[in-house]
Amino acid sequence: MPEASKSGAANLMISVGSYLPQRIVTNDELAMSVDTSDEWIRQRTGIAQRHIVAEGEKTSDLARNAAEEALSRVGLSGADIDLIIVATSTPDDTFPSTATKIQHQLGAHNAIAFDVQAVCAGFVYALDVADAMLTAGRGQRALVIGAESFSKILDWQDRSTCVLFGDGAGAVLLERCETETDYGILATKLHADGAHRDILYVDGGPSSNGNVGHVRMEGNKVFRHAVEKLSSVMDEVLDAAAMRVEEVDWLVPHQANIRIIEGMQKKMGLGEDRVVKTVHEHANTSAASIPLALSAAVNDGRIHDGQVLAFEAIGGGLVWGAALVRYGRP
Ligand code: UT7
Repeated sequence: MPEASKSGAANLMISVGSYLPQRIVTNDELAMSVDTSDEWIRQRTGIAQRHIVAEGEKTSDLARNAAEEALSRVGLSGADIDLIIVATSTPDDTFPSTATKIQHQLGAHNAIAFDVQAVCAGFVYALDVADAMLTAGRGQRALVIGAESFSKILDWQDRSTCVLFGDGAGAVLLERCETETDYGILATKLHADGAHRDILYVDGGPSSNGNVGHVRMEGNKVFRHAVEKLSSVMDEVLDAAAMRVEEVDWLVPHQANIRIIEGMQKKMGLGEDRVVKTVHEHANTSAASIPLALSAAVNDGRIHDGQVLAFEAIGGGLVWGAALVRYGRP
């Protein structure tokens, strides 16, 4: 049975920000150092280029830039924030968290701060946690940031993975609204199944071999899980919000592969004008990909206040989830 449609107090998504490193690496450039081609990468993934961090540029630098843009867009500062969650699998350090670095750099003295590690599903996981914490009265405003320097954990000799990923960060700003509204986060649904660990993992870590390690993936096995699990969690989240797919204005999916995105587009019966696609420019930026895509579509005017957005993502674990949001302020 669908739950009642969410109305009453809510957590609004009032702003977005993003940051991409300056350096762009094209498929042709990659093909000079690994046995691949622009044609293969475009056909199999839709990717044309990716942004890569400069020497010395860290995940926290990307995250801070994205967060600052989200704050300045609505005239707020770090002091106005009560909660900072950074979704990342490529933190600056094993500890402390990247979120605490951002908290200090933004002067967010009142905020609690921590990282969430759910790889490519990190943004929807962090959004769910922030939504629950604001609803539980842990504060008025939260920054949810997806930030990754995946280039640091790629094996640049492994053509089956190194062509797929890029670096970047995106941030959203949530604000508690106590008056009745149908805006804000409408529903979220998360899942995990650790039985699939071996099809997507990093072969390193502090308590295993002490190395940072590299991404290892059986891409075609992950691919087979993707559309099936994403479409099922999308049905669940629509059900939880008592909404129909026709009420969704924009699908803002995780950007791993254009074939997965178009598979979801087909399953949901959405036209080209209702799906945000940035995979060709950004490649797969893991936890950053959804807020980066959202930011691109807000900046160019496609997404505006009052529209219903559907987010979905799947990543290593496996972990996957979806969220429905009516964007902006009432
Ligand atoms: O965001 C986290 C979740 N991750 C994903 O969602 C990724 C999901 N998986 C995928 O996107 C796709 O599976 C890939 C893009 C990773 C691979 O596409 P595929 O159509 O599943 O290809 P494949 O892995 O089955 O490989 C096909 C062929 C192989 O050659 P043979 O065995 O047929 O001779 C590979 O060795 O393509 C070869 N290949 C490449 N060729 C040129 C693999 N990588 C490359 C490459 N350039 N970069």
